[in-house]
Amino acid sequence: MTDEPLLRVSALSKFYGSRVGCDNVSFDLWPGEVLAVVGESGSGKTTLLNCLSTRLLPSSGTASYRMRDGQFRELYRMSEAERRFLMRTDWGFVHQNPADGLRMTVSAGANVGERLMAVGDRHYGKIRATAVDWLSRVEIEQDRIDDEPRAFSGGMRQRLQIARNLVTGPRLVFMDEPTGGLDVSVQARLLDLLRGLVTDLGLAAIVVTHDLAVARLLSQRMMVMKDGRVVESGLTDRVLDDPRAPYTQLLVSSILQV
Ligand SMILES: Nc1ncnc2c1ncn2[C@@H]1O[C@H](COP(=O)(O)OP(=O)(O)OP(=O)(O)O)[C@@H](O)[C@H]1O
Ligand SMILES: [Mg+2]
Repeated sequence: MTDEPLLRVSALSKFYGSRVGCDNVSFDLWPGEVLAVVGESGSGKTTLLNCLSTRLLPSSGTASYRMRDGQFRELYRMSEAERRFLMRTDWGFVHQNPADGLRMTVSAGANVGERLMAVGDRHYGKIRATAVDWLSRVEIEQDRIDDEPRAFSGGMRQRLQIARNLVTGPRLVFMDEPTGGLDVSVQARLLDLLRGLVTDLGLAAIVVTHDLAVARLLSQRMMVMKDGRVVESGLTDRVLDDPRAPYTQLLVSSILQV
């Protein structure tokens, strides 16, 4: 552990023309910490996540990331090549729709192996062995390694996407509604699996979800967004058990009524 954050975000805003995407968001993310970003549809969660992962450039504000050498780098001043390198190595991005994060027409094993090759692994036997190991960690049977993800169920695809992202040992993983498209029983198992992996690997993660149960299970800290702004943030248990902002109170109570 270190006494410096992994990511420092300051006054980040993104406007789409005159429409607010996210507005004046600031926070620090610590190594090994899972932050949940919650809020209703249109509150700016995906916009924020896409800005943080540099898939989208903000209109104003800064975000700096502590590289493996300990130096902070300003994300929006990096070259495209440097950003792509970060995304391939130090970061993972788990999409809500696994098809957006997988190559659907190459085998499951290749989906995992490809990320290893991108960080310089060349030894076929070793890559395959690591792929097999990761498929088993996400509970995909070994005999499915040569199947393409389009032959997988939604839950299997999502687990494969997770393996593809985690195989390179990233330090920070962005997740946009990782359990969103799945039915309830599959969601619960996937959440258990994700929680175990995040803990075992000591991963830092930013998880976007509109599901407070996901926030409760995965995160230590959470931010509640409305109309692009952060209306409340704090330790997850505190925010959910003792919400202070009227909007959070509404969110928590409306979930309890369901
Ligand atoms: N490409 C875009 N062009 C214009 N406006 C956009 C664009 N993307 C998002 N917005 C607007 O920005 C606001 C925030 O959208 P965003 O997708 O970040 O919300 P969200 O919290 O992820 O919602 P959801 O839970 O439905 O995924 C919304 O008003 C949305 O209409
Ligand atoms: Mg979204």
